[in-house]
Amino acid sequence: MELHILEHSLKVASIAKEGIQLFTHGLIKLAFLRSRTGCKFFSLTETPEDYTIIVDEEGFRELPESEFLSVAEATWLALNVVSGGGSNSGSQPIGVTKIAKSVIAPLADHNISVFMLSTYQTDFILVRERDLPLVMHTLAAEFTLLRVINGETVAANSLAVTNGFVKPKLVQRPIIHPLSSPSNMFCVTSLDPETLPSVATLLMDVMFYSGGMKESAVAEDSGHIRFFSFSLIEGYISLVMDVQTQQRFPNNVLFTSASGELWKMVRIGGQPLGFDECGIVAQISEPLAAADIPAYYISTFKFDHALVPEENIQSVISALQTSSDQRK
Ligand code: ARG
Repeated sequence: MELHILEHSLKVASIAKEGIQLFTHGLIKLAFLRSRTGCKFFSLTETPEDYTIIVDEEGFRELPESEFLSVAEATWLALNVVSGGGSNSGSQPIGVTKIAKSVIAPLADHNISVFMLSTYQTDFILVRERDLPLVMHTLAAEFTLLRVINGETVAANSLAVTNGFVKPKLVQRPIIHPLSSPSNMFCVTSLDPETLPSVATLLMDVMFYSGGMKESAVAEDSGHIRFFSFSLIEGYISLVMDVQTQQRFPNNVLFTSASGELWKMVRIGGQPLGFDECGIVAQISEPLAAADIPAYYISTFKFDHALVPEENIQSVISALQTSSDQRK
């Protein structure tokens, strides 16, 4: 297996809802007018709290300075697991489940904080740039490390890896933060960049103007939350939206995986989680991997979000609940 260390220098930022109009000019450019920016990594996720933006240096220049913008202090690098060997044999377990044991757990065991962004296409594990030597040391045993430099993938110099670290013992990792599960059902979809112009006005509406929208079905449902995620990374578009939002799109524009499954969300965190704490993603993804339940995982500025197949939500919640009770 290969681990690619991508070259984008990423910033993680939050835009306050009440300040979004100051940023729409830049965000529209980043989402729809790719050729006008040099940006290759852009993601925007709206939650009830704020908009989380993950963007490379080129894209960051499009955001004005403002009291409504908070930027996490570190620069982040994105890691991406690529199963080598070219065996194109289709069905792979999706999302963080696949990388829980090989990437997420070892990083947590070495106290390395991560920030996750699952997309339709792949899962990005963001680590702080300053942690890179330790990250490489930690993962060198399991992976061929490759670094992307000027668009070319080259062997990463594994800094004289001694490999002398003790194999972490399999201790239980109790869940520390409170969990909740909104009532929405989500789908994880993609879109051909060629058809982006045809849905641009709809997407602008969804991204920037749907907050106050009262759909009768949704308004009555107190467990429903606002959650929408758009990413445009190296030319690939990924969208995570609830079924109510999906229904606003014309037929056949969005692609979903063949099974077209729906996902329910587990939100992680009571107080904002910050950026220094380690092991949160591991606490959630390890039990899911043990039970072989696929999951997407999206970190936002304040909280984390796991998406699990709708039919598994009850068993996931009880499994995770047990895991939080063990702490007491
Ligand atoms: N740093 C956490 C971990 O290593 C995940 C991110 C939590 N923080 C956040 N702002 N979403 O597990």
